[in-house]
Amino acid sequence: MDEKMKKIISLAKRRGFVFQSSEIYGGVEALWDYGPLGTAMKQNIRKAWFNMFVRQQSNIVAIEGAILMHPKVWQASGHIENFTDPLIECKSCNGRFRADHMIDGRFVGQGEAKEPNQCPNCGDRDFTPARNFNLMFKTFLGPIQDEANATYLRPETAQSMFTNFKLVQESQRLKVPFGIAQAGKAFRNEITTGNFIFRSREFEQMEIEYFVKPGEDEQSFDLWVEKWEQFFLSLGLRKENLRRYEHPKESLSHYSKRTVDIEYKFPFGWGELAGIANRTDFDLKQHAEFSGQDLRYFDETTKEKYFPYVIEPTAGLDRLFLALLCDAYEEVEGGRSTTTEAAKEKETMLKFSPSVAPVQVAVFPLVKNKQELVAEAKRIYAELQQKFSCQYDETGAIGRRYRRQDEIGTPFAVTVDFDTLEDDSVTLRNRDTMAQERVSVKHLSDKIDALLFRATME
Ligand code: GAP
Repeated sequence: MDEKMKKIISLAKRRGFVFQSSEIYGGVEALWDYGPLGTAMKQNIRKAWFNMFVRQQSNIVAIEGAILMHPKVWQASGHIENFTDPLIECKSCNGRFRADHMIDGRFVGQGEAKEPNQCPNCGDRDFTPARNFNLMFKTFLGPIQDEANATYLRPETAQSMFTNFKLVQESQRLKVPFGIAQAGKAFRNEITTGNFIFRSREFEQMEIEYFVKPGEDEQSFDLWVEKWEQFFLSLGLRKENLRRYEHPKESLSHYSKRTVDIEYKFPFGWGELAGIANRTDFDLKQHAEFSGQDLRYFDETTKEKYFPYVIEPTAGLDRLFLALLCDAYEEVEGGRSTTTEAAKEKETMLKFSPSVAPVQVAVFPLVKNKQELVAEAKRIYAELQQKFSCQYDETGAIGRRYRRQDEIGTPFAVTVDFDTLEDDSVTLRNRDTMAQERVSVKHLSDKIDALLFRATME
């Protein structure tokens, strides 16, 4: 595995971003638990997405659908028949791989050579012919485990936005064009997993189904590609690490007229971060046929009834999380500070945008054995907690404490020192510039607010 990835995975574990699931039992492949910092960061990403695409829009509403749905949903959607990957098996070691991911025994992006070459486990070149493997996890509703009660964990969040199309549109009195958004878990029994949280069997998606009048779909598609990219840039991803990938017609999903992926340059290569698909009226028509319900939209102005087309921008929350970690990761040989006892050590930083940083402000008393300093620091900490995500730390030299915060990407740190007791001001330290300024306690909260706002606008 790439050295940078190893370091990121180790940092993620050490500082409580991501743990392997069930680690005390040896772990489970491709399942991950988010620790305290990872959970906070995921919430920030979800919130930023929700703010931009739901709260600040007048025609996009959110739902939270059940993960288990009526079994017919998966027939209608085409997932039972088509949601498959080509599985090949090494004849020597019985290792199983996705044929389209296995060229020269390494992970490859789309658009490259198609023939599998050699087994990454044992080096053999003899594989079984590819057969289609359905990626959905099967389960049963109720106590009788027969086919009549079989259903699947949803492999995408999209379907409940289609099955609820009419209920949402009518209850909210929405007019086309409008969108339904959903963030939530999806499950896929992936054949080959790996690259940390990039490809796992349980993950989270943030999707929008945007319903438009047929004929207006192509223009809407282009706009959504722009908006989706804008979202990633707004969270701090570097432009040079993003690119578009246009799916060739012959490799489009069964429902898609056009798909553009947004790829990120991970340390292991370019990989799909998100996508925008033109799903046409495929899903609404299928659900109308299988449910026997009329899912056409009635345009009150023109008195027309039609199936809207659907533009679907989708993103993997876990992949975005990983991209943000990779993008923010920096090592400074010899450290950045020349004055602390920790100088000359390599310093690791996460330069997160404040909008995603799991901790926004750290609060320290200069020393922990002076009652008045500790009391004042705790009072300031409690006050700032009302507005920001904060961490209190009184252990170790101040330079070390700054480093600990730099390592988890905290943009600001407040130090309460002896002068604070005299002049009611504190030191506010900026992670990126390391500049320190005195700020009066009275104005501290507003000052941090302004700095955070400015940083998210840059
Ligand atoms: N509703 C459309 C849909 O599900 P997709 O391209 O299959 O499209 C959307 O998935 C996004 O979900 C991907 O761009 C990726 O970010 C994320 N994703 C898909 N499979 C994943 C996996 N096994 N692990 C982590 N994220 C995954």
